[in-house]
Amino acid sequence: MSTQVAIIGAGPAGLLLSHLLHLQGIESVVLETRSRVEIEATIRAGVLEQGTMDILNQSGIGARMQREGVVHHGFELAFGGQRHRIDLTELTGRAITVYAQHEVIKDLVAARLAADGQIMFEVSDVALHQIDTDTPSVTYRHAGEARRLEADFVIGCDGFHGVSRPAMPTSQRQDFQRIYPFGWFGILVDAPPSSDELIYARHERGFALVSTRSPQVQRLYFQCDPNDDVNQWSDDRIWSELNMRLANHDGWQLKEGKIFQKNIIGMRSFVSTPMQHGRLFLAGDAAHIVPPTGAKGLNLAVSDVRLLARALDRFYATGKQDALNDYTETALKRIWRAEHFSWWMTSLLHTFKEASPFEQQLQRAELDYVVSSRAAATALAENYVGLAFA
Ligand code: FAD
Ligand code: PHB
Repeated sequence: MSTQVAIIGAGPAGLLLSHLLHLQGIESVVLETRSRVEIEATIRAGVLEQGTMDILNQSGIGARMQREGVVHHGFELAFGGQRHRIDLTELTGRAITVYAQHEVIKDLVAARLAADGQIMFEVSDVALHQIDTDTPSVTYRHAGEARRLEADFVIGCDGFHGVSRPAMPTSQRQDFQRIYPFGWFGILVDAPPSSDELIYARHERGFALVSTRSPQVQRLYFQCDPNDDVNQWSDDRIWSELNMRLANHDGWQLKEGKIFQKNIIGMRSFVSTPMQHGRLFLAGDAAHIVPPTGAKGLNLAVSDVRLLARALDRFYATGKQDALNDYTETALKRIWRAEHFSWWMTSLLHTFKEASPFEQQLQRAELDYVVSSRAAATALAENYVGLAFA
């Protein structure tokens, strides 16, 4: 089998790239190890930047997001028993939308299949070949059969644990990494929202985040030991911990409900560069990871594939490789900005066991500054809503 662009991974990066290429008349095949049911049910991110929404709308798949997503014009920072509002729209003129990543996935899969797009689910043994020639290929197994996909380009959208990044020669790669000594305990709850806006809380016992999925389902997180076991956390223990971390002096109360999913997410910052080797390009989590505190992971994946779609369009329209060759440099500017912001938000809001009393006071001074200085609040808001796409 052959195609123009072989895409590895049907996450937000791979599916959106396939959709954007289709709109430009470029053919692609997406290879995915998991089933459609699995990718459509995996709970991950929830916050879409304005630029991400714009791309989904402009590419014709934003209708359900517009109906079911909720636009948020601000969020709250809670610490020292008080809540402080960051008014995103007043400070930046922009907003974010809360619409779950797996809903974006459902919309993209539906659009690809409706256009006879090819997504091969449940493949195995994916391997990349001859990426430094003009005739790269990917071998894999599907329904018990060994297959080969020949293409002009291979795009690795297969996440942090995929096979694409390791296919790049290590001698030409540089990885930058920080692993944080904590994780996030995430829960999904049957309950009405406790707050109209997200609450990011800093407490001596650790960070907590109140987010939402729908009028009936809420998403909450709290800082935990990354090696903890969800089975050690009864519902009562979870509510007691969240109530302690979110306690405040203005009578606000967390609305509890039935917890129907618990998971622990590790936290890391990671960038692998370059994002291109020959005819192989990396996009999204395959090339970089941010801790979720800044809500940037999914949005970065979208901005990467937007660049790639444009560069591939230029190549097929004119034969020029300049935009493809500039991909790493252009993408890394936004990636490193988001890496810094995500690290900064993480450092601002989590408790670090090894932090000295001096460092704890610095953290509190920074929080006080962010909620009392319009300049500092604007810097936070500008990064949170996302810088304009290149
Ligand atoms: P992914 O979504 O990881 O998609 C990669 C796809 O490739 C997957 O479907 C995978 O099955 C497939 N794949 C892997 N290996 C192969 C292979 N060898 N061959 C074929 N296919 C393969 N961000 C936030 O902002 N907030 C959050 O709360 C949040 N929670 C997260 C929780 C978890 C457990 C993880 C892993 C990430 C979370 N993120 C969160 C980050 C955000 O979800 C990611 O940045 C986003 O999913 C990146 O999209 P992607 O398409 O690059 O990669
Ligand atoms: C979420 O709703 O899953 C979410 C929201 C904000 C974040 C991270 C995750 O910063």
